[in-house]
Amino acid sequence: MLTRRTLGALAGATALALSLAAPAFAQDKIIIKFSHVVAPDTPKGKAAAKFEELAEAYTNGAVDVEVYPNSQLYKDKEEMEALQLGAVQMLAPSLAKFGPLGVQDFEVFDLPYIFADYDALRKVTQGEAGKMLLAKLEDKGIKGLAYWDNGFKIMSANSPLHVPDDFLGLKMRIQSSKVLEAEMQALGAVPQVMAFSEVYQALQTGVVDGTENPPSNMFTQKMNEVQKHATLSNHGYLGYAVIVNKQFWDGLPDDVRAGLEKAMSEATDYANSIAKEENDKALEAMMAAGTTEFHELTEEERAAWIEALAPVHDEMADRIGADTIAAVKAAVGG
Ligand code: LMR
Repeated sequence: MLTRRTLGALAGATALALSLAAPAFAQDKIIIKFSHVVAPDTPKGKAAAKFEELAEAYTNGAVDVEVYPNSQLYKDKEEMEALQLGAVQMLAPSLAKFGPLGVQDFEVFDLPYIFADYDALRKVTQGEAGKMLLAKLEDKGIKGLAYWDNGFKIMSANSPLHVPDDFLGLKMRIQSSKVLEAEMQALGAVPQVMAFSEVYQALQTGVVDGTENPPSNMFTQKMNEVQKHATLSNHGYLGYAVIVNKQFWDGLPDDVRAGLEKAMSEATDYANSIAKEENDKALEAMMAAGTTEFHELTEEERAAWIEALAPVHDEMADRIGADTIAAVKAAVGG
C-alpha cells in the first residue's frame, strides 16, 4: 500500500535520480566564467563583453557569462590550469601562451614578420590551417572555438630601439613562447618570461628594460608612462584563441551550445572588426600623452631588423613542426 510516507520517499528518490542524471548546472543558469588578463577597454576585453551580451540573449537567459578581466581571477599560467580543471569555462589566451600546455604549434604565430598584415593572418585563422591548429587542443581537454585579433607588436624600452644593436643586453619581457625567446636572443636581448599582470611594475622598477605588445595593451596597462621609447616595428603578431573546457562544452544541451556558437561567431566578427581601430586609437592616445617617443623605422633599419630576425624561422622549425609551418606559409602564400 502506498502511504503518504512512501509516496514522499518515492518523490524524493525520483528528484535525486533526476538531479544525478542531469548535469549539475541544470537547475539554475549555466555559468560561464570567462577569465582574461587584459583591460576591458581592449579588443579582447570588448569582444568578451560582446560575447557575454550575445550569449545571454541567444540562449534566452539560460546562460550567465561572467567576464573577469585584468587577471582578476587568474594570471596567465594559472588560467590555463583553471580551465583544464573546470574552475573557469572560457579563456582567450594569446597564441603565444600555448607552449607550456604542450601545443607548441601555436608559436608559429610568433614568427617574426610571418604575416604582412591582417589579411594575411586571416587566411590562416579563418582557413584550414587555423582549424587544424585548434584541433590540436582537444587532447588537452580543451576545445578551440575561434580566433580573435589583437594586432601587430611594437617594441618599447627606456632607450631608443632603432637597429638590432640597440637591443644588446637589454632585459626584455616576453610571453611564454620559445619563438619569442629566440626572437629577443636574435636581437641580442635577454628575454624574460613574465605574466602580463606583472609587466607594468617590472618596467617601472627596472626589473626589465623593455617589452613588446600591440599599442592597445601598452596603452591600457599604462606602460607608455614607464617606457621612454617605442619603435613601430610591427615585427610580429599578437592574437588569441578563444577556448573552452571540452567536457563542459560537450555536456551542454544542444540548443544552448547552438546559441553559444552563434554568439561566438558574431563576437568574433565584432572582435576582428574593431582590433585595428582600437590599436590605432591607442597609439594616437600614447602619442598625445607624450611620455614615449615613437620611432618609425627607416627602410634601412627595417631591413636590418628583418635580417637579424630571419634565422628565428629555421631555428624554431623543429619546435613548431614542419607541417604547421608549411600549412601557415601556404595559407599566406609564402
Ligand atoms: C601579453 O601577455 O603580453 C598578452 O598576451 C596579453 C594579452 O592577453 O593580450
